[in-house]
Amino acid sequence: MTNPTDPRAAPAGATKAAVDGDAVAQLADAFAAIADERPAAALPSLRQADARGSRMAAALLRRLAGEGPDNAYEAHAAFQAFIRGGDNVPLYAAVSQAMAERYRTPPVRRLLDIGAGDGMALLPALRAAAPVPAEVDVIEPQEGLRSALEQEFAQAAPASRLSVHGTTLQAFTGNLDSAAHWDLAQSSFALQSLRPGERIEALRALRPHVDALVLVEFDVPALAHGSDAYFHSIAGRYERCLAQYGDDADLIARGFLAPMLAGQLRRDVAPSNWEQPIAGWRREFEQAGYRLREARHLYDYSWSPAWWLEVSAR
Ligand SMILES: C[S@@+](CC[C@H](N)C(=O)[O-])C[C@H]1O[C@@H](n2cnc3c(N)ncnc32)[C@H](O)[C@@H]1O
Repeated sequence: MTNPTDPRAAPAGATKAAVDGDAVAQLADAFAAIADERPAAALPSLRQADARGSRMAAALLRRLAGEGPDNAYEAHAAFQAFIRGGDNVPLYAAVSQAMAERYRTPPVRRLLDIGAGDGMALLPALRAAAPVPAEVDVIEPQEGLRSALEQEFAQAAPASRLSVHGTTLQAFTGNLDSAAHWDLAQSSFALQSLRPGERIEALRALRPHVDALVLVEFDVPALAHGSDAYFHSIAGRYERCLAQYGDDADLIARGFLAPMLAGQLRRDVAPSNWEQPIAGWRREFEQAGYRLREARHLYDYSWSPAWWLEVSAR
């Protein structure tokens, strides 16, 4: 179960970074000032990085001027453009294929998808599944993404019955009927949106209601939040992600990546992202009472390698 790649190295197939090392260093300095609640002090570094072609710096300058959404999923068109471009395309193909294969053995009749978004991972998995799960429950708090999924569902999985829950995992597990049960719960890139304490509590509450749970998340480098190495690492990774987008880069940077970044940097003020190395996910599942069944590397994505974890509820 060792990671075959160095997570800090540029993955094979990633587009070359659009900006030079100086721009990344200036962006990292700006991140440090924003994290320290000194946005005015971030402006000179952002302007310098912007002048060197940093799209992330340009988006942050507009954000600091008051533009753009607070929540990364609020401007859902930006998120949808993001996951439909760059190396998200092969990433999602790998995720959906792994899900479709998993529904076969052991067979999954009742499936729960936590934070399903617009179904970018789920719907192709259902299309490819044989047999297809008969009952699919979806938890998705964001209305725009939820309705996009609902519109596509019947065409993707005509033999399945869909139940949609427009709520968070925390609220969903707080109101579960004692008889509710799923063969499998799955979650791709969504549990990183929950605060760790609430996440463990919700996963613990879900455990009696599932046989197993599959998580797909990124194995991010284990760097101390707030350290220079952390700011430098995420500055390079944000810029590397954006370098893969042409005309959509501004929409994605302003509508999705800038609010995502704000939630990562300003954890005590506007938390919205709690990603962690895969070792951290394994520890949390153990704390919530699950047993590890499988952990494997899935795809070398530009942000960090994506991993597949399956845990058993018993
Ligand atoms: C990066 S997206 C992933 C969506 C989808 N699973 C995919 O792979 O494309 C994260 C999703 O988690 C949802 N989300 C955020 N907070 C949540 C919570 N507390 N409970 C459940 N879902 C949540 C967001 O609305 C968003 O749709």
